[in-house]
Amino acid sequence: MSLLLLGLLLLLSGAAANFHEGDFVPSARRAQFGGSRTHWHDLLGRHCPRFGEDHVVAIPLPEPKGFMTADRYKIQFTFDGDRLVTPWLKLMGKGAPNPPIVHIFLKRRGEVLKKAKAEVHQVSQAYLYAHHQLLDEFRNATHWPKHLLVQYSWQAEQEVDALSGLYVVFAICLLAFLVTAVSTLLSYEAKLKAFMADIAGEDFTASGSSAAAAAVKGD
Ligand SMILES: *[C@@H]1O[C@H](CO)[C@@H](O)[C@H](O)[C@H]1NC(C)=O
Repeated sequence: MSLLLLGLLLLLSGAAANFHEGDFVPSARRAQFGGSRTHWHDLLGRHCPRFGEDHVVAIPLPEPKGFMTADRYKIQFTFDGDRLVTPWLKLMGKGAPNPPIVHIFLKRRGEVLKKAKAEVHQVSQAYLYAHHQLLDEFRNATHWPKHLLVQYSWQAEQEVDALSGLYVVFAICLLAFLVTAVSTLLSYEAKLKAFMADIAGEDFTASGSSAAAAAVKGD
């Protein structure tokens, strides 16, 4: 039963890809506007997060088909294939920061991407001075493609995880089982010895008494 559970856990943990430092994490985006959604589109390598490296990218957003200027425009990301999906992030429309920047917080544990969290913020003034073209693009409703700033930040989680905790529990259970098995065997062996001794003793007594009987006969 525990072996089955262990196998299942190994299988589940095997679903996440293993990365090396600086590897591209395969990512995709899709958009939602005017009541429709696009398909998932893979991000180019240079727009994907790089494992363990903080950086900022500008992702071009192609003109959505049939987009009305008053439409809300939302975007959604997925990382490591389709394993980690962000909620919908509002980029355009009422209440959206203009121009927006998306902060993606990625959590890693060892070589595995564990979590992805996303937030939309207003691009900082300091950045806008340097890249005012970005602001112009976003404010100009008819200008496409627009460029969306995405900032990737990485955080490392502790290596000691639930799985290794389970390994320890399994190891302790296994040890406890072995100790029980050995002590049971030892007690059986002791009983067996006692039993053999009993039999041997009876034989001895039997032959002893027959010798005694013979002695009585000889008398
Ligand atoms: C908005 O963008 C369009 C297309 O790029 C351009 O022709 C137009 O001049 C821009 N308008 C403003 C006010 O910059």
